[in-house]
Amino acid sequence: MNPYLPREAEIVGRTEESSNTFSLHLRLTDGRPYDFAPGQFNMLYLFGAGEVPISVVADAPDSGVLTHTIRALGRVTNALQALQVGDRIGLRGPYGRGWPMHEAHGRDVLIVTGGLGCAPSVSIIHHILGHREDYGHVHILQGVKHTDDLIWRAQYDAWGSLPNVQVLLAADVAEPGWHGHVGLVTTLFEQLDLQPERSIAMLCGPEVMMRAAAEGLHARGLAAGSIYLSMERNMQCAVGHCGHCQFGGSFVCRDGPVFAWPEVRALLGVRGF
Ligand SMILES: Cc1cc2nc3c(=O)[nH]c(=O)nc-3n(C[C@H](O)[C@H](O)[C@H](O)COP(=O)(O)OP(=O)(O)OC[C@H]3O[C@@H](n4cnc5c(N)ncnc54)[C@H](O)[C@@H]3O)c2cc1C
Ligand code: FES
Repeated sequence: MNPYLPREAEIVGRTEESSNTFSLHLRLTDGRPYDFAPGQFNMLYLFGAGEVPISVVADAPDSGVLTHTIRALGRVTNALQALQVGDRIGLRGPYGRGWPMHEAHGRDVLIVTGGLGCAPSVSIIHHILGHREDYGHVHILQGVKHTDDLIWRAQYDAWGSLPNVQVLLAADVAEPGWHGHVGLVTTLFEQLDLQPERSIAMLCGPEVMMRAAAEGLHARGLAAGSIYLSMERNMQCAVGHCGHCQFGGSFVCRDGPVFAWPEVRALLGVRGF
């Protein structure tokens, strides 16, 4: 198969998550199966606009529908935002190395996200809830700049009401009536009943936040090798050919986007990388 050849996907539904964030529910029109691992991404292609990497949030194998949640930021994502049910786009993937779900078996899972970092983390949560007996306690920590940026509030409430699931939300700036924490997501660590020896952490969001979160968890006793994070870089080929997504000696599209913290620790926050 030519790795650059997109498959056709029809938009069978869309959900407005906030003023600039939306979810597209897609069905591949060729009828061939699609399977992904949590943390992997697809390249979404819109004729006349371009192609962008977007994480897979969820799939519903019975209906063959897969979901992407997208923030409209620039040329391609703004054009995707204008699409409606019935429109068609190109899709290649899934690509990349996802979250270490096997390594997490039998352990408590701590998910720390910032901003729309929640998109790749939702696939972790869906996977754990679908295989609940394989995992221990789940802590979900989500931080946003402003409470207006928080999407999926009802979903967080639903997850937080499940046994052995703790949801903690934080906003740097809060609207009146906000019941969550005010401050950086890392300040939520003080509320955690963390058992470092039996925990694994998965982080996604801005690099500055992931770096602070990794250092903070490590200081609380979590082994460096038990901390994973999902990196973002501009991409073109998505299959390790063009070098666009190079990060030190790695290609984020092929060797990531999920890396163990020790693999990237030295380069995180270094200007130019
Ligand atoms: C593996 C991976 C998974 C991703 N998953 C999602 C997702 O689930 N949902 C989602 O909304 N976005 C996701 N992104 C980010 C998304 O790919 C970019 O927002 C998109 O490529 C922007 O393209 P554009 O043409 O709309 O914007 P452009 O016109 O290219 O740029 C708009 C602005 O965004 C900045 N920008 C562009 N690409 C990135 C990037 N990768 N990271 C940070 N800033 C960037 C530019 O510098 C510019 O300021 C992911 C990126 C990667 C690498
Ligand atoms: S996008 Fe081409 S090597 Fe990663």
